[in-house]
Amino acid sequence: MRVSGEVAPPGDKSVTHRALILGALSHARVTVHGALTADDARSTARVLRQLGVRVGSLRRGRRVVVVGRPWVSPSRTLNCGNAGTTARLTLGAIAGQPIEARLTGDRSLRRRPMQRVAVPLKAMGATITSEGEDGLPLTVRGGALRAFSYHTPVASAQIKAALLFAGVSGNVPVTVSEPAKSRDHSERLFAHLGFDVHTHGTTVELRGVPESWPAVPNFSLEIPGDASSSAFLVGAATLADGGEILLRSVGVNPTRTGFLEVLTRMGGHVHRLDERDVCGEPVADLAVRPATLRGVTVGPNEIPALIDEIPMLAVLASRAEGESRFREVGELRVKESDRLGLLAENLRAIGVRAAIEDNDLVVVGSDQPPRGRVETGGDHRLGMAFAVLGTTAGGTVELSETRSAAVSYPDFFSDLTHIGSHE
Ligand code: S3P
Repeated sequence: MRVSGEVAPPGDKSVTHRALILGALSHARVTVHGALTADDARSTARVLRQLGVRVGSLRRGRRVVVVGRPWVSPSRTLNCGNAGTTARLTLGAIAGQPIEARLTGDRSLRRRPMQRVAVPLKAMGATITSEGEDGLPLTVRGGALRAFSYHTPVASAQIKAALLFAGVSGNVPVTVSEPAKSRDHSERLFAHLGFDVHTHGTTVELRGVPESWPAVPNFSLEIPGDASSSAFLVGAATLADGGEILLRSVGVNPTRTGFLEVLTRMGGHVHRLDERDVCGEPVADLAVRPATLRGVTVGPNEIPALIDEIPMLAVLASRAEGESRFREVGELRVKESDRLGLLAENLRAIGVRAAIEDNDLVVVGSDQPPRGRVETGGDHRLGMAFAVLGTTAGGTVELSETRSAAVSYPDFFSDLTHIGSHE
């Protein structure tokens, strides 16, 4: 495949969730430009409407208006769909308000751990009752919270953001430290809006919200393009036989660029153009050319900055010269699917040598065309990564389904077709 052309990737999923929730917690009219309009963002919008907030419809290319106001107890269970971020951040945001809600999600989300968020939120003063051992459904009753300092055992931006949003909704100081730095979109958004927030190393401290909060003046936010969605097109251009593509307005926040750093170590050619700041988030255009790749070792401290890109990196590793090792990636077992297990199984199903050793994923590169059937487990990122592998010359990769791309990147298949031409 040769590649050419330009693509503006969809709005950043993490930043969209945070912008909608923070707007909903304010008592202002908040205009959000460039929001993600995929299923996960719709889940957050739907849940916020059930909580009494006015959220306009999410349509591609249109701004979204959120009119924040005090939240109310919803009359029906909040269905967070497939979105872990919706569930965990909403739990935190409810914790500081005198309301009660029951949360659930689809089959994938119901099996994902929630105690990692519920335990610290209970320590802050919220009442949370689970119906099973862990996971959804669960019921949260918010109220007066106490100032809180927490060391999380897992580096997770969702845990950190849940606690920070509890701090905002309950108007109490919160400090979170983690073993490695996870994505810092909440902190950046808060700083952009003038909150008293400080970061030292892997610790973030929210000392307070603006004095007038939540009755702040109306404001606008702009969402950068999603670094994780862009990674699939970067991957496709890297594996191509020739040409170059340009990806417009991609978020290059250092807590999200682990993929680009590792790809550069593997021999990839990605150039950043026109680096700029968008509402506190670094953004650039990316020019990507094909490359001959070599195997790589990715260490445990690098994982949080590329956690969602491991499927794409593993696929790239399968085309690289030599062995690659992704160390300590056990967190992948509790993503939208058991991503670790399915990655190894699917790579083997298309003829690649891949193994799980303790919590490491090991992939041996090959230049044989990939051929076979991939079981996505309904996981958007697995489907998109293996679809990219299917563009390799002589390869045929059949996916068990393609609709899960709608979770984060509804136009993925048309964008992939748009950049590619077979000779
Ligand atoms: C996210 C954080 C990450 C990531 C997820 C989005 C966020 O999860 O995998 O897709 O928006 O905070 P963890 O924080 O659980 O690692």
